[in-house]
Amino acid sequence: MATETLKRPMTGEEMIALSKKHTLFEWSAQSKVDPIPVARAKGIYFWTPEGKRFIDFNSQLMCVNIGHGDDRVIRAIQRQAAALAYASPFMTTEPRARLGAKLAELAPGDIDVFFFTNGGAEANENAIKLARLTTGRHKILARYRSYHGATAGSITLTGDPRRWPSEPGLPGVVHVLDPYHGIERGWDSAERSLAMLAEVVELEGPHTIAAFILETVTGTNGVLIPPDGYLQGVRELCTRHGILMICDEVMAGFGRTGEWFAVDHWKIVPDILTMAKGLTSAYVPLGAVGMRRSIAEHFRDNVFPGGLTYNSHPVACAAALATIQVYEEDRLIENSRKMGALMKQLLADLERRHPSIGAARSIGLFGLVELVRNRKTRQPMAPFNGTSDEMAALGRFFREEGLYTLVRWNTFFTNPPLCITEPELREALAIVDRGLEITDKAVA
Ligand SMILES: Cc1ncc(COP(=O)(O)O)c(C=O)c1O
Repeated sequence: MATETLKRPMTGEEMIALSKKHTLFEWSAQSKVDPIPVARAKGIYFWTPEGKRFIDFNSQLMCVNIGHGDDRVIRAIQRQAAALAYASPFMTTEPRARLGAKLAELAPGDIDVFFFTNGGAEANENAIKLARLTTGRHKILARYRSYHGATAGSITLTGDPRRWPSEPGLPGVVHVLDPYHGIERGWDSAERSLAMLAEVVELEGPHTIAAFILETVTGTNGVLIPPDGYLQGVRELCTRHGILMICDEVMAGFGRTGEWFAVDHWKIVPDILTMAKGLTSAYVPLGAVGMRRSIAEHFRDNVFPGGLTYNSHPVACAAALATIQVYEEDRLIENSRKMGALMKQLLADLERRHPSIGAARSIGLFGLVELVRNRKTRQPMAPFNGTSDEMAALGRFFREEGLYTLVRWNTFFTNPPLCITEPELREALAIVDRGLEITDKAVA
């Protein structure tokens, strides 16, 4: 690096060039990546070093739930770093103690014991371990339209095509179909989907199945909100066969859906609940596995054979406590519900006016639009696991107009920070409105 660039802040171009030269970007062929250089962020906005402003309409990776640059969390991180930046997980600290107790208050039912990790994938890895050890069974059921993380076990649980290059994965993972079958085939009823699941359980042998892991509301695979009765039916089936129900709320938790946890909408208590992202709003990395008392009891006399150097990291626990306080002080769960109702209305309005919208779904501030070439045939605007000129053009338009969101296959997401206001939401969706003129042109 030229010494001159070391003395001053980098330009966006310099950041991109050096990052591409010396670092790997995830899930991408490196010659194709085109990252946005980011220098600072506040609330729902972030800026490039050159001062171009973006609305963060995806909360980065659906994680900065409280919004960017909140001083209360920044100060808590600074205070904890100054007092005690790290302690071995064999010791204990005040933030660890307080965070465990606080999460026990917020989590549903008798989930009141937590194991802290660095993120979502590790939370799911440890959930598998807990399930296998406490049941003495080895199989794990998971769904196809899912993402559970990129580590060896979690990528095996993952149903979407990100799993394929990592196969063969962890033995004993069995995938089942979801209630949703894509924009062309649509939804099964809860009854039909549950009957399929019961059949798989019977065919696999219930006594061999330790757990069924599912995203309560599926995230990157389509903001799939389960039909009423589905989660209750899964709970009942699992209970009947002694199978543990693991709800992955890494993305859906912490207010994203308008409740602290998405399971609260259907009033069910899973045996294990995994979380990350919104737990600290990504100010620093932290994940957690929550478990019911009965599971924790197993480890009273049996060793819990798991560990991480950064388990219960004091700075991360302090950040989580401050983040939770922000959700409470600013009533962000309520705002997610309120702005979520408005977003649903505005998305329905876009659906009425834009023929390329095949479906618009949302729950709280967790939303997605599916685009089609034809409303009768419901042919998606891009194929499964692929893209198209129109979707690429829509992505470029959003970027030019200063709207950041995830454009994936035939879909794009509407997942703003939960602190968004009505004028900000309208401003973002006005850009979406103009962008959809591009995809409308492709409608036959
Ligand atoms: C539902 C779900 N589970 C697990 C993960 C993995 O979390 P992490 O990337 O923190 O390992 C993600 C990440 O997007 C997710 O959305």
